[in-house]
Amino acid sequence: MATPCGSLAINILKGALVKVIGFPTGRSTIGMKQSEGNKVRLTVKTTLTSKPNDATIAKVMEIANEKCKAAVPVQFFNIQRDEAEALYGECMYDKFQVPAEIKTLTVLYIDGYNFNCVRPDAEYPRNTSAISEMTLKKVKFQTSKQQLEVQVVYTPNTSANVPVVNALKSASENTNAKPTKEAIEPLITSTGMDTSNDAPPAPSTEKKGGKNQIVTPWMVSSDDGVDYNKLIKDYGSQPLSDELIQRMEKIIGQPVHPWIRRGIYFSHRDLNVMLDMYEKGTKFYLYTGRGPSSEALHLGHLLPFMFTKWLQDVFKCPLVIQLTDDEKFLWKDLALDECHRLGYENSKDIIAMGFDMKKTFIFSDLNYIQHLYPTVLEIQKRVTFNQARGIFGFTDSDNIGKQAFPAIQAAPSFSRAFKIPLKGLANMPCLIPCAIDQDPYFRMTRDVAPRMKLHKPALIHCKFFPALQGQNTKMSASAVNTAVYCTDTAKQIKKKINKHAFSGGQDTMEKQRELGANLEVDIPYQWLRFFLMDDDRLKEIGEKYSSGEMLTGEVKKELIGVLQALVKNHQEKRAAVTDEIVQEFHKVRELEWEA
Ligand code: TRP
Repeated sequence: MATPCGSLAINILKGALVKVIGFPTGRSTIGMKQSEGNKVRLTVKTTLTSKPNDATIAKVMEIANEKCKAAVPVQFFNIQRDEAEALYGECMYDKFQVPAEIKTLTVLYIDGYNFNCVRPDAEYPRNTSAISEMTLKKVKFQTSKQQLEVQVVYTPNTSANVPVVNALKSASENTNAKPTKEAIEPLITSTGMDTSNDAPPAPSTEKKGGKNQIVTPWMVSSDDGVDYNKLIKDYGSQPLSDELIQRMEKIIGQPVHPWIRRGIYFSHRDLNVMLDMYEKGTKFYLYTGRGPSSEALHLGHLLPFMFTKWLQDVFKCPLVIQLTDDEKFLWKDLALDECHRLGYENSKDIIAMGFDMKKTFIFSDLNYIQHLYPTVLEIQKRVTFNQARGIFGFTDSDNIGKQAFPAIQAAPSFSRAFKIPLKGLANMPCLIPCAIDQDPYFRMTRDVAPRMKLHKPALIHCKFFPALQGQNTKMSASAVNTAVYCTDTAKQIKKKINKHAFSGGQDTMEKQRELGANLEVDIPYQWLRFFLMDDDRLKEIGEKYSSGEMLTGEVKKELIGVLQALVKNHQEKRAAVTDEIVQEFHKVRELEWEA
């Protein structure tokens, strides 16, 4: 009992499955059935090795429903069979063989979405808006046969009054040119949409964490501290497990960085895949960056670079560092030359971390854009306005530069953007260390990578460094007393910590001795977790402070000592960075590393 809407529902579903999961469209339809209650069932042969997860199926339904809403014409063409096969191969066929005596094919075509032989006598609505909604009923997967069966219920859109046509008749009346080979190509080569572990992120304004938690690349806020477990869940990244940490230690032949052990680097995407490749002798490169919005860097800005330096040392790999002067110009009230200048100044602080000049390329987007641009374009072509809005929460009043920017931060994830520095390697794997707020950029990147036939970049994410006033927010480069700056004097550091660091200790000495401090919210202790590298000493302080044996003043004193030494060392290193050195790091040149 085929109905026009039922037949259409099957074609829409098929198109969505191919788009999202990414198996060949030709010869993959094994069976379909329409039954009472507007139910349809479609069975397809996939390339999957396990049942698709909920996010993937949700995406399939989302795409199918978008197609219905979009009211796209359903066209038919009559094409000579040998001509069709010569032009399109087998992509219009289902699994079963069309009898040899049939010499003319009637083919249904939904623009860039579905191209499929149909029975000449079948009836279809003239456009996709004949269905108002499709909802999922059931999903079954047969692992041994890689067969996926999807059942949906559709709701006919009776108020739309879409005319019904006979396929053969409509095809003979169709005066449009039949689709070109190039138009069909994406249907054949679709590699899917990568929903496996990159769950579609919620728009930026959505509440999703600790209370009223908002995390986007340009804003982090929450009423009661960031809930990182929730972030892992919402973003669909992986927690950095003990098992993976042990594996990493085995491969690098030394303990991991204390920040990994302490859970400051806490989440990743495909780090295991990078380690697999590394073990087999394929080197990856590192990519990180900074948005130069102020001259004075605070300690929180240095953290990702300190960690990146460690990664470069243990994996002995090349590194590219992007200075997004363009981004800051678009987002902040700053002149373009100023952003460019800040990038140049900031690179002195970055270089002071001790990066290996032979292995490190630092670039400003403004300077390097011509090299990035071909890759930027390939990315831009594959991300719709809707997707960018979904990921970044852009609104109608955001300037168009912002909307185009994500592709510029994505491009350095692909080695083809570094023909000279990375010696022309077209698809060298990439690992990106970054704070978790940068993840949206790279979810987008990972979504387009398979469609560009390139490796998805892997990521390792860190938590935010808390402001002096407490856990709830990132530090601000504009509120002087929320942070310790790389330019602060020993005296200023002492004063800031003593005066402004939020304490989790008790109000009086008696109470502290009795109850001890709350380490979770205590900033001096939390900062020591970042900057005191001696594990034993940190543990001792944690125990003594939380039990009341140590007082806030003593812990602050310890922190002040650590920070004064760190900042002094940084200032010396930075002073030694001459303009010639900066220029060498910025020079477009071949990097050197052992393969
Ligand atoms: N957008 C980042 C910032 O504002 C800078 C950046 C560019 C970056 N590329 C990156 C950060 C890659 C981490 C990884 O700071």
